[in-house]
Amino acid sequence: MPNPSDPSPPAPAGAGAAPSAAAPRFAAMVQRLSAEIGAARSAPELANAKARALGKEGELTAEMKKLGALAPAERARFGRELNEAKQAIEQALREREAALARADLDARLAQEAIDVTLPGRGPGAGGLHPITLTIERIEAIFHSIGFDVADGPEIEEDFFNFTALNTPENHPARSMHDTFYVDAPDGKGGGLLLRTHTSPVQVRYARAHTPPIKVIAPGKTYRVDSDATHSPMFHQFEGLWIDEDVSFADLKSVYADFLRRFFERDDLDVRFRPSYFPFTEPSAEIDMRFADGPLAGRWLEVSGSGQVHPNVVRNFGLDPERYIGFAFGSGIERLAMLRYGIGDLRMFYENDLRFLQQFNR
Ligand code: FA5
Ligand code: MG
Repeated sequence: MPNPSDPSPPAPAGAGAAPSAAAPRFAAMVQRLSAEIGAARSAPELANAKARALGKEGELTAEMKKLGALAPAERARFGRELNEAKQAIEQALREREAALARADLDARLAQEAIDVTLPGRGPGAGGLHPITLTIERIEAIFHSIGFDVADGPEIEEDFFNFTALNTPENHPARSMHDTFYVDAPDGKGGGLLLRTHTSPVQVRYARAHTPPIKVIAPGKTYRVDSDATHSPMFHQFEGLWIDEDVSFADLKSVYADFLRRFFERDDLDVRFRPSYFPFTEPSAEIDMRFADGPLAGRWLEVSGSGQVHPNVVRNFGLDPERYIGFAFGSGIERLAMLRYGIGDLRMFYENDLRFLQQFNR
């Protein structure tokens, strides 16, 4: 609200109007300084224009200094006119300041504007890991020929991982299965370890079921191993078939048939190479090779296998004179690498989406 008793009301709005309100004595100066102020394009430019008018060395300040030398009557008029000039300049400063602030805000709004026409990012659809897909594939094939699917604990007792599998303490075969040992909840070593293979599930499952026993058991296994074809954590699936008349010939036909269905091709050879495991006798590594393709001709080990040792059949709680059968334990990463043509097993566990997305198109 303008104060009616104020002897010098503010000049009317508009920088152009300000000079006309100033006394003729200062009109030209006010016009020039107001123009400079109106031309300022930034806060620092405006500060400079303000200093040239009202600063210590400013033009209005210089006029102010003349006051003292004037005769009293003249001094009053000069003072009033100078005051009007100063108010006109201050008005111009306020207007320019407001205009710059508005322009600044407009620019920021324009810059930060949301482009509602941009396509949205959408929720990313997850997919199953290639190892999970491979496990599902293995389960489906074995399920179709009458195998049950079981699992067992990853933190396993020394007894199931070794002793029950005919591998007593100090048996040299233990050294090939160096693993990670786990403290029991009481802080003492409780004979617990991360299982080095899925074979302990043979014992757990066979003790809980009666023959015929026909099962596969996929899952995680652990060893102190790390290179392009070995990972400290990897997956195996165990197979076990126990009955009164299961032979090595059954093992050969079941496993060869599995491989042909898993790879969806008939042009692969399967070879049983004599080997040693404490829990099977006789024992064999299962090798395979493709007839053509990039890996053609090279034999690749995919599994250990054998006829279950009579001591192990006894540990199942069964009579080895009556029950006989075979077991195998295969590396799931190896099978997935062969199926998808992957050169380095570690890629499965680097969580690189460019790699993983290829399995979920
Ligand atoms: C065993 O683990 C036996 N339990 C297999 C077995 C079961 C034999 C039943 C007889 C009867 P082996 O240590 O060879 O055997 O491992 C079996 C497969 O697991 C290997 O052929 C390989 O494909 C895979 N494998 C072993 N170690 C690793 C590892 N560090 N990383 C990835 N795959 C591995
Ligand atoms: Mg082996």
